[in-house]
Amino acid sequence: MTPPSGRKPGSGSGQGSGSGSGSGGRGNRRTKGTGPTKGSGPRFAGSTKPSQPTRLPRQQDRPAVDVHDPDGVRLQKLLAAAGVGSRRTCEGLIAAGRVAVDGQVVTELGVRIDPARQVVHVDGIRINLDESRVYLAFNKPLGVVSTMNDELGRISLADYVGDRNERLFHVGRLDADTEGLLLLTNDGDLANRLQHPSHGVAKTYIARIAGPVPRDLGRRLRDGVELDDGPAKVDSFKVVDSQPGKAMVEVVIHEGRKHIVRRMLDATGHPVETLVRVQVGPIRLGDLKSGRTRRLTPDEVGQLYAAAGM
Ligand code: URA
Repeated sequence: MTPPSGRKPGSGSGQGSGSGSGSGGRGNRRTKGTGPTKGSGPRFAGSTKPSQPTRLPRQQDRPAVDVHDPDGVRLQKLLAAAGVGSRRTCEGLIAAGRVAVDGQVVTELGVRIDPARQVVHVDGIRINLDESRVYLAFNKPLGVVSTMNDELGRISLADYVGDRNERLFHVGRLDADTEGLLLLTNDGDLANRLQHPSHGVAKTYIARIAGPVPRDLGRRLRDGVELDDGPAKVDSFKVVDSQPGKAMVEVVIHEGRKHIVRRMLDATGHPVETLVRVQVGPIRLGDLKSGRTRRLTPDEVGQLYAAAGM
């Protein structure tokens, strides 16, 4: 697909030199017991009943603090602006005890809070209250280097999102000859955390290799293979389709070493022919078209916060 700039994707391989890290972002207030609930799609909108078991912060564990900020903004207004639902829906969520501010469930409707300082969860999912923050899924096409500014003039992420006002960071990288999901955000704190090995965000890839797939390939990859920079293993391996000359396999890994999936499959004697990343942590590529971006939903952003321990 031709980037929006009108340039044709180049055929360069290898990785760009851009950094997915950055600064900015707010304080990382951590809230206990606020992990994501399962399920997909808009979880909050139009609903005043939890569709899943609610995991609100355990109030008995924390001393009561006053979450009111008389100079702040009304909670339902902030929630509505964050895309949780209409104001009325948000009032329903508050009244139903599904909203927590700084770990405390708030059921009173007039509460004003400071969105820059306070942390809000709905059904245990953290809500981004800062409208200037942008969280995007991008389907990186083949031939595009994962950098915002390529000194060699290759087609880069800037050709797709360079005209946006925000300064976007990419969360990790994909090889130029790998396509698929790349997360982009101006929330440098989240980008850094998602890439940090301590958070171990799982990434799912679909690789095409020459078939048929031997029965023991999954076991070998799960046990670990020796690479020139140390051992590596997959979290899970699944054959999606296997035919005599062609097979599709799904590989889930946590780590982010360069060319890691290609090198692991190479090491087992099954070189990768094509590679697509289809999921990063809780975010799926879905049917997003090559070269296109989409905004993550408030629920997806909340799940990313949780994956990053925020
Ligand atoms: N592993 C690879 O080999 N390439 C990528 O782009 C990502 C993971």
